[in-house]
Amino acid sequence: MAVSIALCFLFAFVSVTNAGDPDMLQDLCVADPFAGVKMNGFACKDSTKVDETDFFFSGLAKPGATNTTFGSIVTTGNVEKIPGLNTLGVSMSRVDYAPGGLNPPHTHPRATEIAFVLEGQLDVGFITTGNVLISKTVSKGEIFVFPRGLVHFQKNNGDVPAAVIAAFNSQLPGTQSIGAALFAATPPVPDNVLSMAFQVGTKEVEEIKSRFVTKK
Ligand code: GLV
Ligand code: MN
Repeated sequence: MAVSIALCFLFAFVSVTNAGDPDMLQDLCVADPFAGVKMNGFACKDSTKVDETDFFFSGLAKPGATNTTFGSIVTTGNVEKIPGLNTLGVSMSRVDYAPGGLNPPHTHPRATEIAFVLEGQLDVGFITTGNVLISKTVSKGEIFVFPRGLVHFQKNNGDVPAAVIAAFNSQLPGTQSIGAALFAATPPVPDNVLSMAFQVGTKEVEEIKSRFVTKK
């Protein structure tokens, strides 16, 4: 009995420690994207060449331009922009939304997201693996959480711009946008796959694909 309780705790602990990026093994390991070493993450830059600029990023300070197809723009602050994030297991993004703008359904395969509304109001939601939609209207100063790997979206149904700052428990959460993944992959996902999956004709599939060619 005692052994099985101990095993339960062990498994719970292992699953908790594996929930995000792997843990760090040193104070810092600033990414060296030019190292040419293939590994999980990036090789560490020579520590004599590390300075404060490796840990600094001003890219989220200002709104991004929202004149996009979906009326929204994501500005990432991950290890690709902030090399000092390598091995630290965290990152941030800023999302700006024009009135009516949508951050279309997408997932982050490597992170849970916690989003803080900087400005405006958003209708947000995620869908569980049981196809239950969990949704809410969130306003300036409020927070909403999108569990790792689940499809989620944010829509600005207001008539003023909105913005969020989102934090992730990964240095590089990854984003897979559902529409683009299915209808704008290279090489393309076969029409007969999409036609069966969505229960429509190949004409409709082609129509959607053609819209993604110009609108990404
Ligand atoms: C919002 O969902 C984001 O991924 O930045
Ligand atoms: Mn997201």
